[in-house]
Amino acid sequence: MSLVGSGSAIPAQIVTNDQLSLLVDTNDEWVRTRTGIRERRIIGPDESLADLCSDASKSALEMANWDASNVDMILIATSTPDDLFGLAPKVQAKLGAANAVAFDLTAACSGFLFAFITAAQFLQNGSFKRVLIIGADQLSGWMDWSDRRSCVLFGDGAGAIALEAIDQTEDALIGFKMKSDGSRGDCLNLPQTRNFVPLVGSHLNQKGGFSNIQMNGQEVYKFAVREVPALLEKVLNNCEISPESLDWLLLHQANQRILNAVADRFAIPQQKVLTNLANYGNTSAATIPLMLDEAVRDGRVEKGNLIASSGFGAGLSWGVALFRWHGPS
Ligand code: COA
Repeated sequence: MSLVGSGSAIPAQIVTNDQLSLLVDTNDEWVRTRTGIRERRIIGPDESLADLCSDASKSALEMANWDASNVDMILIATSTPDDLFGLAPKVQAKLGAANAVAFDLTAACSGFLFAFITAAQFLQNGSFKRVLIIGADQLSGWMDWSDRRSCVLFGDGAGAIALEAIDQTEDALIGFKMKSDGSRGDCLNLPQTRNFVPLVGSHLNQKGGFSNIQMNGQEVYKFAVREVPALLEKVLNNCEISPESLDWLLLHQANQRILNAVADRFAIPQQKVLTNLANYGNTSAATIPLMLDEAVRDGRVEKGNLIASSGFGAGLSWGVALFRWHGPS
């Protein structure tokens, strides 16, 4: 299995920290120093998450030099689909990828990493030849814009990676681990509202709907800086790879302080830590492919580079993948 193309798409609307200070009691200095975020993108009325997915996918298809009709599977990691029955089929139609099975996978901010590892299984076992994986979220729609502890953190975006089955001896996915702990899920969630309305006779019916994102920031922070390094260490040990031999650390872009803490733990220098938090904030399932695409296109990530990636977040869920970027052949 090889990574042969990348693409990303972001909404046009930019919301700066200064603009958020008009909504809640915050300021640019606080947000920058506590999180590393300067601004984020928010989907506006002329855009949709399906549009972003489709644009990101088209760029990835172009880089991979694939025709949409040759894609076997489209897997979208998202917690905020345009349609609860599935975002991926809409994107399949927009792309004209008529031969691809298309479905969504939900694992919050770990979603892209889980989708990558899931897709790799189909490619490695010979079921599929070409798979498009997409990470996309529109958390702006589920934010409590009066809660300064959470609304400054998130933004919208999408990223896509084209994965191809190969016969080479070294598979691009060198090692991985995935973890879940639902017993700690309460510190970050986006629950259904329990609004029961009369149906017929004495029967009640739960009206569909969701509340806003609820987060205990400090608990999530502690979880990330404890669990991500522990899992990364296990994967590195299993693969007999030393932290020094990594070309890049590509973590879910949640908070610059979390990125720094993980890098410090392995003595990975800042120049090897990929970060674009300042421009986009936390785009949930989109952060990893958005960052990878940016670094591939500006030439930082080169063919053969070894990348350690970790997604972590609600669930709670977290995962690590060690992989190489091969790029288009
Ligand atoms: N602007 C100004 N002040 C703010 C603020 C904001 N946006 N948000 C919180 N504060 C205040 C708090 O009210 C608190 O004030 P108090 O001491 O008077 O009560 C003070 O700043 C410190 O709050 P605290 O929660 O201790 O800050 P922190 O250093 O832990 O940073 C987060 C808060 C949310 C940035 C940090 O905990 C974090 O990033 N957690 C992880 C969240 C995350 O990544 N979630 C997604 C995971 S996928």
